[in-house]
Amino acid sequence: MKRLLVPLLATLLVGAAASVWLARGEQGPRLEGDCPLYLTWRGDPTTTMTVTWLCRDQDAPEPAVFFRAAGDGAWQLAGGTSGIFPHTGWRLHRVELTGLTPGTLHHFLVAGEGRIHSFRTLPSTLERPVRFVEGGDVGKDFEVMDGVNRLAASVDPDFAVWGGDLAYCNGDPDKAWRWWRFFQSVHRHLRTPDGRLVPLVVTPGNHELPRDGGAADCYLALFPAADGRSYGALDAGDYLSLLLLDTGHLAEIEGAQTDWLAGALEQRRGRAHVFPVYHRGAYPSVRDFENRHARAVRAHWVPLFEKHGVRLAFEHHDHTYKVTPALREGRPDETGVVYAGDGAWGVDTRTVRADAPYLRRSGSWHHFHEVTLEPHRRTVRSVAADGTEIDRFEQAVAGGR
Ligand SMILES: [Fe+2]
Repeated sequence: MKRLLVPLLATLLVGAAASVWLARGEQGPRLEGDCPLYLTWRGDPTTTMTVTWLCRDQDAPEPAVFFRAAGDGAWQLAGGTSGIFPHTGWRLHRVELTGLTPGTLHHFLVAGEGRIHSFRTLPSTLERPVRFVEGGDVGKDFEVMDGVNRLAASVDPDFAVWGGDLAYCNGDPDKAWRWWRFFQSVHRHLRTPDGRLVPLVVTPGNHELPRDGGAADCYLALFPAADGRSYGALDAGDYLSLLLLDTGHLAEIEGAQTDWLAGALEQRRGRAHVFPVYHRGAYPSVRDFENRHARAVRAHWVPLFEKHGVRLAFEHHDHTYKVTPALREGRPDETGVVYAGDGAWGVDTRTVRADAPYLRRSGSWHHFHEVTLEPHRRTVRSVAADGTEIDRFEQAVAGGR
């Protein structure tokens, strides 16, 4: 008996020690791997790319990136800026690449590192279908996030859109390590089958801020807006506009943001594909229909969507899958807006409310939406974390949206 117990206890002790080490391994000093790198756009997505990477090395050289279009002979060099990532002492390096060729694969490498990465600029017209993947509530359970990242990248998207609740730091300095793990997942797993990095387009959610209010300093350092606002538009050529909105996290829904939205929709009249993206939904799948944020979005933004012919909006925050029929003034109407959500990329899922008659399809599934844009139609596929197609629909684009 003793001969069996001793090795058993030794195994348990070694296992426990390894668990403690692995648990500590995600919390700052023991974080592993290369400096995670990610792509965003602060300018025109057809001719620019912003490369950002996070390093623990205090003595890193001045940030610089070599880049060239695929097939070009000469490398160009662009310098950047460097700052301290809040609460950590880590360095955040950023290089903006400009003057790029639209719709073109580019190669790049960070000066001082050996690995060559690639990205693709968006085309200036819909000469080929443009595809993006969409979701939210992303990095609560990192293993789930890793898997959904791999699956979403496998459809070869041009970019990914995340509508808030990214790394679940809640503005807590002790959880700043979560951003490292979040971008490690992006760096390693949000790559297309040919290894191309998928750029990120984001809006803020409640978990980007402290629970008791305060600054979203990590989020703002990682995703600084060109004009300092937490909402804005990303326009690609003459065919796509993403209206990236803030549902009361860093900016109020009503007032200046609603005024901006009205002007932005007016300016984009006649564009084929215009999609609002925001965290808290007008048509929630779990939360109460009359919760104050849902009421505010329905009161201030939904009438603008309907007035300007928006056909598809992306909502999140409720940790389920949902898609509504086209709705106008709260009732099915084929000229109305489809609301797709509801934020379950890498977070615990919830149970859909039984009394939500405005849902066409819903369930407790990790998922992403795959949106393919063509000149005269768009196709929306929703894919569960096991690869199953949950739903698919098309919208015709005729004389506008
Ligand atoms: Fe949320």
